[in-house]
Amino acid sequence: MSAKLEQDILARRTFAIISHPDAGKTTMTEKLLYFGGAIRDAGTVKAKKSGKFATSDWMEIEKQRGISVTSSVMQFDYNDCRVNILDTPGHQDFSEDTYRTLMAVDSAVMIIDAAKGIEAQTLKLFKVCRMRGIPIFTFINKLDRQGKEPLELMEELEEVLGIESYAMNWPIGMGKEFLGIYDRYNSRIEQFRTEEDERFLPLDENGELAVDHEMKKTSYYTQAMDDIMLLNEAGNSFSKERIKRGELTPVFFGSALTNFGVQTFLETYLEFAPTPQPRLTEEETIVEPLDQEFSGFIFKIQANMNPAHRDRIAFVRIVSGMFERGMNITLSRTKKSFKVTQSTQFLADDRETVDVAVAGDIIGLYDTGTYQIGDTIVGGKKTFQFEKLPQFTPELFVRVTAKNVMKSKHFHKGIEQLVQEGAIQYYKTLHTEDVILGAVGQLQFEVFENRMKNEYNVDVHMEPIGSKIARWIENEEDVKESMSGPRSMLVHDRFNNYVFLFENEFAMRWFNDKNPDIRLYSLL
Ligand code: G4P
Repeated sequence: MSAKLEQDILARRTFAIISHPDAGKTTMTEKLLYFGGAIRDAGTVKAKKSGKFATSDWMEIEKQRGISVTSSVMQFDYNDCRVNILDTPGHQDFSEDTYRTLMAVDSAVMIIDAAKGIEAQTLKLFKVCRMRGIPIFTFINKLDRQGKEPLELMEELEEVLGIESYAMNWPIGMGKEFLGIYDRYNSRIEQFRTEEDERFLPLDENGELAVDHEMKKTSYYTQAMDDIMLLNEAGNSFSKERIKRGELTPVFFGSALTNFGVQTFLETYLEFAPTPQPRLTEEETIVEPLDQEFSGFIFKIQANMNPAHRDRIAFVRIVSGMFERGMNITLSRTKKSFKVTQSTQFLADDRETVDVAVAGDIIGLYDTGTYQIGDTIVGGKKTFQFEKLPQFTPELFVRVTAKNVMKSKHFHKGIEQLVQEGAIQYYKTLHTEDVILGAVGQLQFEVFENRMKNEYNVDVHMEPIGSKIARWIENEEDVKESMSGPRSMLVHDRFNNYVFLFENEFAMRWFNDKNPDIRLYSLL
């Protein structure tokens, strides 16, 4: 591998932002892109969200709801790093795509609203990151407003999420009295609402403000210094290794909207964020980013970004080597080789053609039905398969039928393709073979309905059967169909494995008591 390629790969930092809706993900993304020079106007991303941006390329449903259904990828350069931000659908109705996006990143940035603390969606996404053991960086946002006490927020991180934390900086005051942040890591104070050349104040060897400044006389400063002393004495110690293993989250305070603390965050983040990480194959070998041969896996397939063209785009995380347009690749599943002539790169939703991309990058390949989620593609002659992407336990279910029975063939074809694409999960009842669909978020059903109509010309009837607890069975051979009941429905999944759909926790416990020999398990 050439020294230049090696350097290019080691410059990559690929992450996703995880947060609950309204915590400030869009605002933060925008500021980061702005610092990276990727957008000239810091209002571009928000303008898109609020519908002031050209939405012609986006699915009808996205326009109707004014939200981003689809994750995109944004790229910019900063301090010799090339940063890839993978967007995660941020609406309450997030979907399996959001989870799967987290399979393609090397670290995550968790944004928390200082007034709200840890919210439901943050917790779910956090768990997926934790399962992968990737580093998680925390940004506590909206300090320009009154929020919870910083110590309380730190405690919440440890208690609710069960991760240890290290405060990289600490707020001095809050809301109207927000004076700035005490930057423990860079040994300085960063002032809020001030001229650029006065922004940073130095600290002396005792960690006190080294210059005469009116801030020193405020109770907010005294309070912050007390807190810092407490953190120094009783808090976790800083450990680069533990951050790397995802055991310790560095915590930053700031305000994305007023662009305060964002640049400091970005610079410190880039110091510690991991370079592209190796991946395991099913054969249990390790593929390193600096391996010569190109390889990657597909973590997401998105249909009809442009409804005028019935194209699909397969998103590929490059694991090793370099991708070049026009190169020959082999799809491991089918062992078929072909030349890739069309590939796209994404920047804040404007697609441009990519000619070269390297390990750590995400590219989109035009797809006419060749790829499936989880597929491995390789550049060399030797094919292998990356470890399977996890399947996520759905929580919502509907029974679905075609409104017009004459359309049954299209109906089944549409379902088969959308299930294969990973848009929705498929189950069928025993004997009657009714089709039941499962999803992580409600939005997946809406997307399904919309796509069945537009792409397969089938109107579907969906009867909600509510939320259920889905459990797979370790010892399938011991399952009897008589165990199925109205509150513990036995169905088959798309691989013909048995799955119990329990009405609620109570129904599951009752089943467990009655059938102690049946070993249930959940997916992620
Ligand atoms: P999201 O993508 O996580 O859903 O959040 P988004 O960035 O859209 O932010 C949600 C709301 O919070 C927005 O207000 C945004 O302006 C506000 N916000 C983000 N960061 C900060 C911050 O640091 N301080 C304060 N005070 N507010 C912040 P909105 O009224 O819903 O939208 P808009 O009218 O500003 O577009």
